[in-house]
Amino acid sequence: MTTAAMPQNILTEIKDQIFYITINREDKLNALNIQTLSDIKNAVLSIYDNAEVRGVILTGKGTKAFAAGADIAEFANFNIEEGTRMSEEGHAVLRAIDNCPKPVIAAVNGFALGGGNELAMACHIRVAVEKARFGQPEVNLGITPGYAGTQRLAQLIGKGRALEFLMTADMMDAQTALNYGLVNHVVPADQLIPKCEEILNKIKAKAPLAISSVIRCVNAYYEKRADGNDVEINEFGNFFGSQDFIEGTKAFLEKRPANFNGQ
Ligand code: COA
Repeated sequence: MTTAAMPQNILTEIKDQIFYITINREDKLNALNIQTLSDIKNAVLSIYDNAEVRGVILTGKGTKAFAAGADIAEFANFNIEEGTRMSEEGHAVLRAIDNCPKPVIAAVNGFALGGGNELAMACHIRVAVEKARFGQPEVNLGITPGYAGTQRLAQLIGKGRALEFLMTADMMDAQTALNYGLVNHVVPADQLIPKCEEILNKIKAKAPLAISSVIRCVNAYYEKRADGNDVEINEFGNFFGSQDFIEGTKAFLEKRPANFNGQ
C-alpha cells in the first residue's frame, strides 16, 4: 500500500461519513499555493474509494476568506512554461473535485477570489455566508483565470454575466451570487457547516451508486466543451511572457495600483 505525503496546508477529518477539508493558510487568506492545491487533490482522491465517506465539505480556515486566489507571491516570477504548468495542474486538481464520485460542497466562509472562486465552482454545490464575496480579479494582475474559471463561470451564471464579471473584475456579494445561481444557498455564518451537513445527510440516505452516476451524467454534459479548457491553459501560460503580468503582480505585492501598457 502506498501512503500519500502528509498534507501541509490543509486540515482533514472524517466524522459521521463526511470528510471535512479546511484550507489552513489563514494569514495569507488561504491563498492557494502549489502545495495547498496538491494537498487538496491528494485529500479528495484519497476518499474516492473510501466507503466510510459519503460526502465532502471543503472550507477555509477563519472567518475572512474561503480562498483569496492562487498565491500571487509564488507565481509572480513564473515564466511561460511555469505558468502553463501551473494552469494544467490547477485544472487537474479541480477536475479531481468535479469528478469525485461523492458530493463535494464548498462552504464559502468569506472571500472566494480568483482560484478560490474557481475552487468553489469545481465543487458540486456551494453554500455561502452572508458576507461572502466572489470575484475573478485576474485582469487586475494582467492575466486571465487559469483554473477553468472562464469555463465554469459561464456554465453557472451564463455567458453575458460571466463576461461582465470577468472583464470588470467586480466583486459579487452573496445575495447577487445566489440570484445568479453561482451559489445554492446563503446562510448566517453559524449555519454554514450545519447547512452543508443537512444537505449531505439527505444525500447520504440515497443509493451511493445512483449519486455517483448523477455526478458523472451531469458532468458528461459539460465535457463536450472541454476544448475551452485547453484554450484557457494556453492563454493563461502566454501571459507569463507579458509586461502587463509583471506589472500587475508587482503592483499587488507592492500594494499599489497597476499601470498597464498593453504589452
Ligand atoms: N496571494 C498571495 N497572498 C495573498 C493573496 C493571494 N491571492 N491574497 C491575500 N494575500 C495575502 C496578502 O498579501 C497579505 O499578506 P501580508 O500580510 O504578508 O502582506 C495577507 O494575505 C492579507 O491580505 P490583505 O491584502 O492585507 O487583506 P485585505 O483585507 O486588505 O484585502 C483582499 C483582502 C482579498 C481584497 C486582498 O487580499 C486581495 O485583493 N487579494 C488578492 C485577490 C486576487 O487578486 N486573487 C486572484 C489571484 S489570481
